Amino acid sequence: MAIVSSSAGSPRPRKEREPNRVVDAARQPGDDLDPAVPASRDDGLRPRCLRDYIGQRELKQVLGIAVKAALGRGDVLDHVLLYGPPGLGKTTMAMVLAEELGVKCRITSAPALERPRDIVGLLVNLQPRELLFIDEIHRLSRVAEELLYPAMEDHRLDLTVGKGSTARTRSLDLPPFTLVGATTRAGALSSPLRDRFGLIQRLEFYGLDDLRSIVERAAGLLALDLTADACAEIALRCRGTPRIANRLLRRVRDVACVRDCSGPIDRLLVDEALTLHRVDGRGLDASDRRLLELLLQSHGGGPAGLDTLAAALGEDPSTLESVVEPYLLQLGFLQRTPRGRVVTAAGRDHLAAA
Ligand SMILES: Nc1ncnc2c1ncn2[C@@H]1O[C@H](COP(=O)(O)OP(=O)(O)OP(=O)(O)O)[C@@H](O)[C@H]1O
Ligand SMILES: [Mg+2]
Repeated sequence: MAIVSSSAGSPRPRKEREPNRVVDAARQPGDDLDPAVPASRDDGLRPRCLRDYIGQRELKQVLGIAVKAALGRGDVLDHVLLYGPPGLGKTTMAMVLAEELGVKCRITSAPALERPRDIVGLLVNLQPRELLFIDEIHRLSRVAEELLYPAMEDHRLDLTVGKGSTARTRSLDLPPFTLVGATTRAGALSSPLRDRFGLIQRLEFYGLDDLRSIVERAAGLLALDLTADACAEIALRCRGTPRIANRLLRRVRDVACVRDCSGPIDRLLVDEALTLHRVDGRGLDASDRRLLELLLQSHGGGPAGLDTLAAALGEDPSTLESVVEPYLLQLGFLQRTPRGRVVTAAGRDHLAAA
């Protein structure tokens, strides 16, 4: 089944930008693979069942109960909307849900459903209780959305046959199914579509303990021996995001291979590998530091407007706002004020210590 890959690998708007930031949460070549590829090409790091899915306690609790209840009743699971920043486990959770329900997961993404016949083809081929996963669901076309409404609500497909005065509507019964939608932009979903999801769940950035467990698990699966300190160091630098944690771990593995080190990979080796990739002690890379340095050196710490900063950095303002700033805001290194961006005391301290 066709699936359009995420923005990973697409050309960046300005040449100054690092093409594939090692700390970018969007999927890149070499990361977790597109779930539409055959299982044989899976990297094996994606958890397959709820027990292996680390963290997101509330999400797991809510969905775990919903799955148990649906199975107990012999009923279909209610439609689920998963939203949150890239790389936190939305696609993984959709596949886990299918596994827990014991059904097939049909995977697609909204840009692949441009023509009405794409979504019709998918819906009429669903088997009872199967799970249909639509990634980037905020990008569904209006026609596709309108076909989904009765399908989600009444398991019915309303098709218009013929044209003009001879046009008639024909209804087809569909088997009960679960739609799992994923988006990084829940606000961009139309409210009629949002209202048709029985379960709407936000994925949160992961805390250090969970990230450590994620690194330990991935290291085990990659047959790597890491000390506890080494795992903690990756956890600290991965911006709360499992996809980045796994990517950093692979970069550490590269250095470990080349160094041909005997014994377990320690914190020093992690530091060497991540410094090589210019990822600092809190997961900031050159783009993050350039923004903070520009604010400090040219604007006395701010405030400075987004457009001014973007022009000076040779960045697209919306990329700066949606890709570079969120983690700095989350760390409390940057503030957005009505008069512009400001570096905080914590941001200054971090740069001074680096
Ligand atoms: N809870 C978790 N426990 C362990 N590993 C995880 C977890 N969540 C995600 N991962 C790892 O992170 C990778 C990225 O997760 P996933 O593809 O599900 O993110 P996503 O939220 O769908 O991202 P995007 O918004 O870019 O589609 C997975 O392949 C998996 O290896
Ligand atoms: Mg995904």
